[in-house]
Amino acid sequence: MDVSPIEKLIENKIGLEGSRINSHHIAKVTIERMTTLQQPDLNAYIQYLQNSPREFEALIESAIVPETWFFRDREAFNFMKLYVKYTWLLSKASKVLRVLSVPCSTGEEPYSIAIALLESGLTPNQFQIDAVDISKVALKKARAYTYSENSFRGNNLEFKSHYFKRQKCQYKLYDWIAKNVNFSWGNLLDPLFLVDRQPYHMIWCRNLLIYLNRNSQKKAFQVLDRLLLPEGFLFLGYAELGTIESDRFVSVRHPRAFAYRKVATSNLKSNFNKSDKKIRKDPSRAMASSSFPTSSPSPLQPPSHTPQSSVSPTDLQSARRLADEGKLEEAKSHCDAYIQQHRTSSEGFLLLGEIEQALGRNDIAEANLRKAVYLNPNCYEALVHLAQLQEQRGDDRNATIIRQRIQRLLETS
Ligand SMILES: C[S@@+](CC[C@H](N)C(=O)[O-])C[C@H]1O[C@@H](n2cnc3c(N)ncnc32)[C@H](O)[C@@H]1O
Repeated sequence: MDVSPIEKLIENKIGLEGSRINSHHIAKVTIERMTTLQQPDLNAYIQYLQNSPREFEALIESAIVPETWFFRDREAFNFMKLYVKYTWLLSKASKVLRVLSVPCSTGEEPYSIAIALLESGLTPNQFQIDAVDISKVALKKARAYTYSENSFRGNNLEFKSHYFKRQKCQYKLYDWIAKNVNFSWGNLLDPLFLVDRQPYHMIWCRNLLIYLNRNSQKKAFQVLDRLLLPEGFLFLGYAELGTIESDRFVSVRHPRAFAYRKVATSNLKSNFNKSDKKIRKDPSRAMASSSFPTSSPSPLQPPSHTPQSSVSPTDLQSARRLADEGKLEEAKSHCDAYIQQHRTSSEGFLLLGEIEQALGRNDIAEANLRKAVYLNPNCYEALVHLAQLQEQRGDDRNATIIRQRIQRLLETS
């Protein structure tokens, strides 16, 4: 059965590329729709499909991939929590944090965002979450906020007992969480998508771009760019890193968050060669900068007597890139090699600490983060990670001391 005309139609209207969602799947859902309509002739069905928006909607409902679960790719949520707690709340608490989740599917992603923001210390009136999807069936489920076991995956499921009420084999999210998300229907590929909305501080667009062809990805990025404020954050899916336009967005310094910060137009040039000194002066930005210190020694570092290094500074960049892609062990090897050659690099120890933290080896992470702070007492990111580690182990006293230090750093910057 040649379903290529149907694939073309889907691609033109909503950007999904047939070969990426699998031609067999399109053929299967086409047969299902033809059987339901008792239409045995493919050409007649295609003609009907072209003229009936309702039939197109029905076909799309069967063709889309609504797969999602709570706290999918958890490090993205951890990064957001750190950002909100240690940057947003300390410097912009009076503003309303605006977040968009598109595509939101059956709601697990935007509700996870709501939980994470509340856990970061925001009150419901300090944030707003809009959630959009093309599937009306998915949106209906999202608005009912009742989920089966399938929506809870992985090991760390403590949140389930905190925020859900068990109803036989299902779990219903508490109303006070659910009411923090506003759902609406929309097609991301429509150039007028959410044209009446104010831009957002954060956009979560995960696990859709992977199904789009290059042209549709470009269109989607134009829409996302329009909707994201300068210096806003864009969260992508793990497999979507290759879709990003690198000169407009810089990767944040948090392994496995798959998050990017939109470069303010005026920063486009300078952002790539910022010195270590500049990073210290601007801690809130350091959290999300892609820049690394150049090979010149930091003013805080004693002159190095290490022999001239054969490792270029970009090796730290490749370590960072590997970490961003989730290749943590490989990233660690690069970072170890870098530190062997640059024993006084605060940036090197910071990255190693972040990698170890992402690998769950908190004690080693802490030792490396402390070295980063020793070498650069104003290393904002290392302080943020250290505060988080103290909190995790229940050491409130030390967490408070580090938090106060972060606050002073923000005030003087
Ligand atoms: C795999 S889910 C991703 C859900 C969630 N972001 C996540 O990562 O878990 C993909 C969703 O994309 C939606 N979708 C597909 N094409 C779309 C479009 N052009 N505009 C908006 N949503 C779309 C589908 O309805 C489906 O719910």
